[in-house]
Amino acid sequence: MLDFFKQASGSHETTLAPPPAEPAEVRLNINGQQHTLQIAPWVSLLDALREYIGFTGTKKGCDHGQCGACTVLVDGVRINSCMTLAIMRDGQEITTIEGLSHGKELHPMQKAFIDHDAFQCGYCTPGQICSAVGLINEGKANNLEDIKELMSGNICRCGAYTNINAAIIQVKGEVQS
Ligand code: FES
Ligand code: FES
Repeated sequence: MLDFFKQASGSHETTLAPPPAEPAEVRLNINGQQHTLQIAPWVSLLDALREYIGFTGTKKGCDHGQCGACTVLVDGVRINSCMTLAIMRDGQEITTIEGLSHGKELHPMQKAFIDHDAFQCGYCTPGQICSAVGLINEGKANNLEDIKELMSGNICRCGAYTNINAAIIQVKGEVQS
């Protein structure tokens, strides 16, 4: 790769490596609190949350948009936080798993996951719950097949899918009733 940045010039060799980027100011509203960071422009939202602010509830699985472990809500819409730069989310409202409950009062989706024993190791669970909340917000899932399809971006290595789907159906019923 370094060779790419080197250019032979007669008997001299000139290095054309790009200069290091200046840190950028990024303002993130996370779970109702404003955070201002000075970070390199290439820092992902996932790394900003975990490494710079300390919201480690959001998990890193693949870091490539393949597993959904890093799912958070941005202005109520679910996204893979490993696939977006923090600087792109400047000024937006981000909700992580830590922000779903109100004090000791769990979010209905968190309660439903407990009711249905919808996890084993729990590594995928924060992403599953945030994604399920986003799914309900979207209002597109009308039956079990829709839920399976629209949750297919969230992988559970423990295979707790049946219980996860049951939890989502419970919350969906509560929302509709
Ligand atoms: S860590 Fe983001 S999709 Fe896997
Ligand atoms: S509960 Fe273990 S990966 Fe889903």
